[in-house]
Parts: sequence; C-alpha cells; structure tokens
Amino acid sequence: MPTTKTASKKASAGKMDNSKFHELFVEELKDIYWAEKNLVKALPKMQKAATSDDLSTCIGNHLEETKEHVARLEEVFELLGKKPQAKKCEAMEGLIAEGQEVLADTEADTAVRDAGIIIASQKIEHYEISAYGSLRTLANVMGHTEVAKLLEQTLQEEKNADSLLTEVAESAINEEAAAE
Ligand SMILES: [Fe+2]
Repeated sequence: MPTTKTASKKASAGKMDNSKFHELFVEELKDIYWAEKNLVKALPKMQKAATSDDLSTCIGNHLEETKEHVARLEEVFELLGKKPQAKKCEAMEGLIAEGQEVLADTEADTAVRDAGIIIASQKIEHYEISAYGSLRTLANVMGHTEVAKLLEQTLQEEKNADSLLTEVAESAINEEAAAE
C-alpha cells in the first residue's frame, strides 16, 4: 500500500528532524548567550567613550537590558532542562572588535566618534535582531511557547534599542546642522 508507506516514512523523517532542529536550536542559544555575556563587558567601554549625553544614556539603558537578556536566556535554558552554556560567537566577537576600532580611530569628545559608536552599535543590534527573530520562530514551530515568549520579549527590546540609536543619530545631525 503506497499511501501508508509514504505516511510512515514522513512521520519518521519528521521525528528525526525534530531532534536535529532541537540540537541546532540549543547550539544557537549558546551562541547568543556568549554574545550577550560579552556585550555586558563591552558596552560600558562604548558608553564611557560616547560624547553626547543622549548616546551615553541610550547605551547605559541598553546595558541594563542586556543584563536582563543574559538572565532571560538562562531562564530559556532552564525551561529546556539544560544548563546555560556559552559557545563563542565569532560574529559578535568581530562586531565588538569593530566597535573598539572605532574608539581607536576617532578622537575623543567628537560627534564623529559618536557617529562611529552608533554605527557599530546598530550593527550589533541587527545581529541580535536576526538571531532572536529566527530563534523565536524556531521555538514556536517546535511548540516551546514559553521559550518563544521570552525570546520575543528580548527581540522587541533589541528592536527598540535600534530605533533609539537612530533617533540619537538624527538629533545629533540636526544639532550639528543648527549650529552651523
Ligand atoms: Fe541583547
């Protein structure tokens, strides 16, 4: 009976894929966990180097959110019955290094340095937005509703941080223009 054969083949393939998906999902969680933990260390340097109060406040607020993101990921691991584990994220390491390069290549107390910090920070936010967006979708597909909710919460905060950075950039440019 060809119909039954196809159906059972599909079912077993589905089962196997589920465990592989789960494995991939946990590996990706380890990646973003490493990223968040290292951002907690890197953001204070960026905040300290910022020229404008607006940018410094923006980064400072996001630093507090980032600490929450670390804690939220620990909750995610717990919900999955796993010990929180970080796996080096090469992409985030590179993005953080780029941020430090900006500080080395620009003069302190300049609007140019702020612009560089904003660019580096937004690249970081965009990495996180894509990571959390994909992980949230995967969690939903796998039926991890609680986990998906936590990831969604962080995703919204990353998107919000990105928008706020755009606002800081726009107001800085307007202030420069008004001063001319
Ligand atoms: Fe984050």
